[in-house]
Amino acid sequence: MTASIQVAPSLLAADFSRLGEEIARVESAGADLLHLDIMDGLFVPNLSYGIPVVEAVRETTELRLDTHLMLANPGDYLEPFAKAGADSLTIHLEACPQPFPLLERMSELGVGRGIALNPDTPVDSVEPVLDQLDLILIMSVQPGFGGQSFQPRALDKIRQLSTLLEAKGLDVPIEIDGGVGPSNAFDCRAAGARILVAGSAVFGVENTSAAIAQIRGT
Ligand code: DX5
Ligand code: ZN
Repeated sequence: MTASIQVAPSLLAADFSRLGEEIARVESAGADLLHLDIMDGLFVPNLSYGIPVVEAVRETTELRLDTHLMLANPGDYLEPFAKAGADSLTIHLEACPQPFPLLERMSELGVGRGIALNPDTPVDSVEPVLDQLDLILIMSVQPGFGGQSFQPRALDKIRQLSTLLEAKGLDVPIEIDGGVGPSNAFDCRAAGARILVAGSAVFGVENTSAAIAQIRGT
C-alpha cells in the first residue's frame, strides 16, 4: 500500500442550510476531494441536487469536485456538469452498458473519466474499458441514499479489480462509496481502494479532522 489515499466527503450528508460553512469545515479538516452525488429519481429512487448547486459549490471551494452521476441518461448531462465545474464525472455502467462514446466526450470536455458499478454488477463487466478510465467507483451500498450500512462484499470486488488492473499494467485508482467510515476504512485501503467516499462518517460527527484522518489512515 504505497499509493496515496484520498478522502472524499460526500456533500449529501451536509447541512444544506449552511452549505458554504460545511464545505469550509471539511476543507479545513483535510478533505482531498469533494464528492457530489447527483440523483435523478429514475436511475435511483431519490432526487438530490443538480447543476446550479454544483456551480455554487464551484464558487465556494478549490477542492476537486468528484461528481457521481446516478442518472439514467448521463450522456445528456456531461457537458452541463463539466461547465458547472465538475473535475471528474462518474457514470454508472448499468445506465450505460456501451460507455466508449461518453468516455470520449469526457476527454473532450477535459474532465476525469469514471465508471461506477453497483453492488450486483460484476467487476468483469468493466474490463473492456479499463484503459479508458481515470477512476473506477465500487459501490458498497445500493446507490440512492446516504447513511446505509457498508456491504463487505465490495471488498472482494476491489481485490478482484486490483488484480485485474495489475495484470493489465494499469494504474487506475479505485474509489469506494457507501457506508465508509473509520470502522471499515482500514479494510477498504487494504483491499486496494485509494479514494474513500464518506458522507455521514465525516459530516455527521463533531471532530471532522479526526474522522478524515482515521479514514485516510494517517
Ligand atoms: C449513495 C451515494 C453515496 C453516499 C455516501 O448513493 O453515492 O455517496 O452519499 O454516504 P454515506 O457515507 O453516508 O453512506
Ligand atoms: Zn456517491
